[in-house]
This record gives sequence, structure tokens and C-alpha cells, in this order.
Amino acid sequence: MRVADRVTVSPARSVSGVLRVPGDKSISHRYALLAAIADGRSTIANYAPGADCASSLACVAALGAIVSRTPAPRDSDAPLVTIDGRGARGLRAAAAPLDCGNSGSTMRMLAGVIAAHPFVTTLIGDASLSRRPMRRIIGPLTRMGATITAADADRPPLTIRGADLTAIDFAPDTPSAQVKSAVLLAGLQARGATTVTEPASTRDHTERALSAFGASVTTSGRTITLSGGQRLTGRSLTVPGDISSAAFIAVAAAVLPGSDVTITHVGLNPSRAALLDVLRRFGANVDATVEDEWNGEPVGRLRVRYGVMRDLVIAPAEVPEVIDELPVLGTLGCFGGSVTVSGAGELRVKESDRIAELVAGLRAIGADADERPDGFQIRSGSRLTGGTVHARHDHRLAMAFAIAALGATGPTHIEGADAVAVSYPGFFTDLDRLAQRPEGSTRA
Ligand code: S3P
Repeated sequence: MRVADRVTVSPARSVSGVLRVPGDKSISHRYALLAAIADGRSTIANYAPGADCASSLACVAALGAIVSRTPAPRDSDAPLVTIDGRGARGLRAAAAPLDCGNSGSTMRMLAGVIAAHPFVTTLIGDASLSRRPMRRIIGPLTRMGATITAADADRPPLTIRGADLTAIDFAPDTPSAQVKSAVLLAGLQARGATTVTEPASTRDHTERALSAFGASVTTSGRTITLSGGQRLTGRSLTVPGDISSAAFIAVAAAVLPGSDVTITHVGLNPSRAALLDVLRRFGANVDATVEDEWNGEPVGRLRVRYGVMRDLVIAPAEVPEVIDELPVLGTLGCFGGSVTVSGAGELRVKESDRIAELVAGLRAIGADADERPDGFQIRSGSRLTGGTVHARHDHRLAMAFAIAALGATGPTHIEGADAVAVSYPGFFTDLDRLAQRPEGSTRA
């Protein structure tokens, strides 16, 4: 699905209906990487359709895993991805640098996989990824035995010479699921037992995915332990819907009177579901029901209805579990009450500087918003006017601006809206279908 560079979003009265969001981006990356080093064949249904997860597939294919996509049984479903794994430490040197595109998850987690392979690999990315910090994975992977070079010892491109790795006990300073995962993936292929002790809990998809592929992982408090040398077995998996994609429509339902949206087959892993508590605190009616478990990941139904709107404070301790939802949670403050976020300095090193760009973008369409060094405050004053805003090549900003635009008095033109293809190519189509607009008013 191709998305136009410039999309115009008209105001809406409410959002209503039933929605199924694309497969989870975080989980899809992990299944692709683990399938590539598993013995035998894995099939992955509902693999995330965005460009980020396509980068992971292209990288493992370039490293010798055989990757194919077959059309889904039903037209509405994502294609089925099949990966023939190369077994433990069985990847082959790639013929050219591996392009991770816009995907920090691909670069950081793949680094953990190839650190255990005895050849040299170069990882490159687009302009945004080339600005993102990598020292956080270079440090532990070097301690385990890999040799890694990077621009300023921190930024991509990364050149990794893999080796026979040794397990480490690792305690990162900053909570990061990507860093934890890079170390666990290296630890799986290392001599000895690796432990990671997190300063705050982060999403646990890697731990669950490792178990799904047959490895034994133990978690005690915030410490995860994994013995090296365990072999993975290919298997059939289905990826739950992405709760971070569902968050956009959920926020729209929370702020537009009369809204009532149900999102089905969505991942409800507790390490990703703090969003629901935040929406409840804001005043929305939120019902989440776990109906099933797919490969160790809880899946279910999420219903969000408009409620009252209160002032919302998101404290530093909550930040790691809502890190990807913070841009859209910020837009809650454009509709009623205010939103104050602190302890979120990590937002400055995401696909864009999400503190500066969120505040600048919302101001451009009439919001009362301020930057803080480690967060922001958005206050509802008068209604947004609409206007023109730039997504800064950041998928989550493009979608957050689209949600804010629903409450404006006039249309909002989003430049760089095609960034949504990174995680949710069908976003504008889904939003258009659910948005209830006055007769004769359209999106574009
Ligand atoms: C992710 C972890 C988060 C998140 C990113 C995906 C993951 O990053 O922002 O979009 O899949 O592990 P950090 O772990 O660096 O905070």
C-alpha cells in the first residue's frame, strides 16, 4: 500500500467501529531473527507489514536464511512469511553491507545475533538511523568478545567482527528492550550463562519468543538469565496485533465524545499494556479482555470509549512501558485537561527528536505546548486550528498529528505522511473508515 507524501486530515465528530491492527512490529522482528538461527522451518502468520520488519527479513535473507512470502489464506490478512533457519551460529557472511533502513530494532538486535558469527558484517541505515546511539550495544557485545567499530564509537554504520562469545552479567544504565535483546541473543550463542539486570522492566517479547522457539529463559525480578549453547527449533507462529498501532485509534476514541472502538486480535502483553492504565487515568472507558495466547503472547480484544478528560501526569517510572505511545498520549492534552511527561529523555534519540518535533508540530496546528529537557507539557486551551505540520520522517509523529487533527476546527495537512509505512501502512485508510465526519466532509 502506497501512502501519499502529503495527507490532509479533516476534523471528525467521533470514531466508531471494529478494527484489526497490523501484526506487532517488536514481535515480528524477534521471530524473524530467531527463525533465522533456528533449526528447520518457521512460518510466521500476520507478520508486521511495515518497512521496518521488511528490513529484518532482508537482512536475515542476505545472511543466508531462506525467506519467502506466500499470500495469506484470506485477502484481508498479511502474507505468511516462511523462514528456513540456518541453525545455531550457522549464518553466512553477507556479500554487501546490510541495510537496516529506519529500524533501530533491526540494527541493535541483529548486532547481537551476528556478534557470534566468525565473519565481518557492516550494518547501515537511513539518515535517521545513522544518527541514533549504538554505544549501548557496542559496550556489552564488545565485552562478550565481538569487535565493533562505529562513527564516533557510537553511530552507524557499524562494522562487526563476530567471535566465540563469552557470557556476561550486564546491568544497563538505561532501560531498553532492544539492548536487553541484543545481549540475550548474543548470550544464546555464548559460552556460559548470561544475565541482564534491567534498571526498569521493559517489554519481554524476546524472553517469550526464546521460550516459544524452545530455549529455557528464567526471569527473577528484573534479572533475566539465559544459558548459552541452547538450540532453537523452527515452528509455526502467529503475530498478535500491535498495541502501539492500536494506541492511535484508542486515543482518538478517548477524546472524541460518543466514540466507541473495538480492536480485535491485539497483543495484550502486560509489559506493553501500561497504555491502558494511562488512558483509564485520563478518564476513558477501557475494557481489555485476553481471549487467547499465541506463542506465549496474550491476545484479545480492546474496547475504548470516550469518558471524562482529566489532567494527566506520566511519571518517569512509567515511561519505559509507554515509550512508543508517548507522542500520541501527548495529543490527549489538545482535547481537554493537560498532559505532562518527564523522565523521557530517550524520546530525543528515537526516529526523530520526538520531544522537539512533537511540540513544534502540535504548536504549528494551534496547540499550547512546551518542551522540557526530558519531556513535554501539552495544555488544552482553545481548540486546535489545523494548518500544516511536518512528520519529520517519523511514523509515530505522522500518526499522532493525524489524531490531533481530528479535533481541529479546520483541515490539517501532514507533510511526510508516507512515514506511516514504517509500521502501519494502512493507517490513513483505517482512520478514514472509523472517523465519523459531518456529511460531505472527507479526509483529503
Ligand atoms: C523496541 C523497544 C523500544 C521501542 C522500539 C521497539 C523493541 O526501544 O522504542 O520502538 O522492539 O524492543 P528501546 O528498547 O531502545 O527503548
